[in-house]
Amino acid sequence: MHIELQDSTFKQLRDFIYEKTGIYISDAKKYFLENRLVRRIQERNLSGFDDYLYLIQYNGGGGELARLYDAVTTNETFFFREPQQFGVFADSIVSEILKERGAQGMRLWSAACSTGEEPYTISMLLMEKKMVVRTEMIASDISDAALESAKRAVYSSYAVRNVPELYLRKYFKANGQAYELESSVRDSVKFMNINLTDEKKVKCLRDLDAIFCRNVLIYFDKKAKQRVLSLLYDSLRPGGFLFIGSSESLHNLTRAFKPAIINGVVVYQRS
Ligand SMILES: C[S@@+](CC[C@H](N)C(=O)[O-])C[C@H]1O[C@@H](n2cnc3c(N)ncnc32)[C@H](O)[C@@H]1O
Repeated sequence: MHIELQDSTFKQLRDFIYEKTGIYISDAKKYFLENRLVRRIQERNLSGFDDYLYLIQYNGGGGELARLYDAVTTNETFFFREPQQFGVFADSIVSEILKERGAQGMRLWSAACSTGEEPYTISMLLMEKKMVVRTEMIASDISDAALESAKRAVYSSYAVRNVPELYLRKYFKANGQAYELESSVRDSVKFMNINLTDEKKVKCLRDLDAIFCRNVLIYFDKKAKQRVLSLLYDSLRPGGFLFIGSSESLHNLTRAFKPAIINGVVVYQRS
């Protein structure tokens, strides 16, 4: 059965998703939404996109809102993605944080962690540094499916393709084609479902030393980016650090953060 997405329904769905998540789906990406939601319509035994819109508009359709978030997010990630940033964090930023924090330890947040590769990479790097101070590593995403996979912590050879040999041997157990993360790394990260545009939820996280918010703002429009950046600013302690994706920039979005270039990597610092 072919289910067609009419332009007017597409616009209503697009606006609804934008209001809820900040994700902006352009006209050119109508096919993307159509492909992603057809499965949901079939699974819910609905007759078309209008019924689906009705379902999510009223009470979130009994858990359907969470499935919608799973469907419209892009969860591409891998271990040691943009490794120069992790290098600068481990070699320069950690010591800055510890100068400020001392024995109190660090509070870190991976703010769109997808299936967990980013926060786990940070945890492994800190373990290799033999950090004696307490580190709280919080990781969040809007997608329950991604978070479930993060907590399972079993990865494909593709996800671990950039993991240095030493780390692979030390922190993973190969099981056929799968790589299981060692429990000390798995248990070092606390996962939560946080929608970055949800002020109430983001406000639960305060006094952070560093936030990694990489490769997620690209899905938002300017207004949503600015809103999220202002919430992240409030979540950092004064002097706290923000990492965004290396292809992203805060230019034209906010002047609230001071950029510094360390070994070719741009790091933003809260004033
Ligand atoms: C491409 S992944 C980036 C993962 C990782 N940070 C990295 O750089 O490899 C983008 C993630 O952002 C999440 N995301 C999208 N909109 C979000 C929102 N409003 N709140 C929280 N997470 C969101 C998606 O679910 C997805 O897992």
